Amino acid sequence: MSNIIVLGAQWGDEGKGKMVDLFSEKFDVVARYQGGHNAGHTVYIGKTKYVLKLIPSGILRPGVQAVIGNGVVIDPGALLSEMATLEGVGIAVDEQLRISNRAHVIFPFHPLMEKMSEAREGRTAIGTTSRGIGPAYEDKIARRGIRMADLVDADSFEEMFEALLADKATIAKAFHISFDQDWGAVRKQYQEYATRLHPLICDTSAFLGESMKAGKRILFEGAQGTMLDIDHGTYPFVTSSSASAGGACTGAGVPPTKINGVIGVSKAYITRVGGGPFPTEALREEGERIRKAGNEFGAVTGRPRRCGWFDVPLLHFTTTVNGFDSLVITKLDVLDMLAEIPVCIGYKIDGKVTNEMPATNRGMEKIEPVYKVMSGWHCSTKGAATFDALPEKAKTYLDFLESQTGVEVGCVSNGPERTETIIRKGSKLEKLLS
Ligand code: GDP
Ligand code: IMO
Ligand code: MG
Repeated sequence: MSNIIVLGAQWGDEGKGKMVDLFSEKFDVVARYQGGHNAGHTVYIGKTKYVLKLIPSGILRPGVQAVIGNGVVIDPGALLSEMATLEGVGIAVDEQLRISNRAHVIFPFHPLMEKMSEAREGRTAIGTTSRGIGPAYEDKIARRGIRMADLVDADSFEEMFEALLADKATIAKAFHISFDQDWGAVRKQYQEYATRLHPLICDTSAFLGESMKAGKRILFEGAQGTMLDIDHGTYPFVTSSSASAGGACTGAGVPPTKINGVIGVSKAYITRVGGGPFPTEALREEGERIRKAGNEFGAVTGRPRRCGWFDVPLLHFTTTVNGFDSLVITKLDVLDMLAEIPVCIGYKIDGKVTNEMPATNRGMEKIEPVYKVMSGWHCSTKGAATFDALPEKAKTYLDFLESQTGVEVGCVSNGPERTETIIRKGSKLEKLLS
């Protein structure tokens, strides 16, 4: 019985939603373990598009249990609106969804605090999604946050809310930020949210434990990507949660001994949204070409994604952190039009070639990528249903990525739809899914 983690191997938006939706056919439970509605996981079922933000992509499969784990931060308004959209297309949300009683709650003062921090003179803006994610995690770590269990506890919620609000009001006053809002109305609205969500809230760690005992299979769905992880990413240009594989255990309350495999999702190139270093970024027309072909615009904010070339040292780094058993290479079709495809095979820093990822922003900015230019296949990969049916040069490209990263390419995605996926025969991935 395999339980697996599927997560981003780059800076997010690798196509995790598509892959989790596809793989969830083989699983009983799909659990999110970190992040919040900063995530945007796009799934196409036929021509119908769904964008999941807080709810695990597995919910689109009838009968699959979807779990929002304790490591997630929840904006109840955003969650209810996502639930309503799914109910509107006939998904049995109340039966399928469970929410952790230990997940922290996002309040309207969190995005306010974020705005202040992002806009303050002398502070480097991270280019966040403005959803209040960072400030909600700040409150969690500072041990003053409010959890779902508190939200539904009528006796303690009011007092906790007032205390947290008083904290924020003090900060706003110190920084001369307008804090005028009908906070009493906000509190009341959250009490209404609590009533609606209460039946879905439980100890999800216990639920996952029982599910495993009953022989059910669990897929843990990562949000963001390893390079946005609070510890391992390009700090400070990261999100505020543990997006890497280790986060699945703490963020879902499951033991590491129960994880049987880790799947890294990576584009055949690379993108990033927001600020921060990006060694292989393709600028101007070159970047624009990929952006256009890959429709690289944020699923949550609509911001254009910065685009660039596949970065082998970065994949080495994220493999070290996560121990990928297999890689899924997505969006291969986006490269169909290119005559040549550069791949970064090493970093040159201060004249020396290294495979090491610098820990600082300044170090990252010193990187001069060393490229190997691969020949493009210059024809359509759409419709190829097996690895062998891919153009020879596309196979060479994938084999090269495999040999350079040292991790098998177990799956290739050549379009956004479920059917546009090749799972390699005999791969570790195929075994983990079987
Ligand atoms: P996620 O956050 O990792 O789930 O990724 P996003 O949904 O934010 O972004 C990935 C985008 O690429 C979505 O619009 C997907 O529909 C699309 N997509 C996924 N796989 C493929 C693929 O193989 N080819 C193409 N052309 N698009 C893909
Ligand atoms: P999915 O799950 C890509 C980026 C933001 C910003 C940084 C911090 O769809 O892959 P935050 O609002 O989290 O404090 O912003 O992280 N970011 C993402 N980039 N994909 C995501 O999620 C992201 N979630 C956050 O753009 O640079
Ligand atoms: Mg996304």
